[in-house]
Amino acid sequence: MNDPFSSPLNLVHRFLPASSGEIQHSETLLLLHGTGGNENDLIELGRSLAPTANLLSPRGKILENGMPRFFRRLAEGVFDEKDLIQRTHELADFVLAAADHYGFSQQKITAVGYSNGANIAASLMLLRPEILEKAVLLRAMVPLVPETAPVLTGRKVFLASGLSDPILPIENARRLSKMLSDAGADVSFHPIQTGHQLTSGELDQARIWLAGSA
Ligand code: MLT
Repeated sequence: MNDPFSSPLNLVHRFLPASSGEIQHSETLLLLHGTGGNENDLIELGRSLAPTANLLSPRGKILENGMPRFFRRLAEGVFDEKDLIQRTHELADFVLAAADHYGFSQQKITAVGYSNGANIAASLMLLRPEILEKAVLLRAMVPLVPETAPVLTGRKVFLASGLSDPILPIENARRLSKMLSDAGADVSFHPIQTGHQLTSGELDQARIWLAGSA
């Protein structure tokens, strides 16, 4: 029996098993919402991006003026790095505990993050690269520069960024793209003629990328 207060499975979350019932052999999408979101926000997006996948959707437990986030920030775009590192490891341990609890494979996990969720997904790639096979980063920036560069050979990343995003500047997204590919990841970078809001075109591209990078 899992006690949510004493195990790493300690984030409020939803888990939706693959429609085939083949939990263990299916890919799992780790859905990571933006600031002010919750575990319900990205379920529909996850279903449309990968209709046959398991979905694991945690809620960030940091509250900023009542709005859930995955880690603390000191100002917009200025992160509390100590907290970010701690929350990244907590999230990684949560994912491993969830794999154990629900019976999905630890080798087939794809993060799908938006904004604050994309930033912690990028941090997961940099600090705990064993957790993610792939990541779809929708509006991300460099979350931190790790002390030791990770080895990301075999990891795949789809990064979509708004050319006029006032929150996550495009130059910063370009730096993230370079940082990930310098570490060996196969990065598909999409600078898009838009701001912080998602567009249907990029979600179509992400769906095609996910289907093709299986
Ligand atoms: C962050 O704090 O992760 C970014 O500034 C994006 C956001 O506004 O959540």
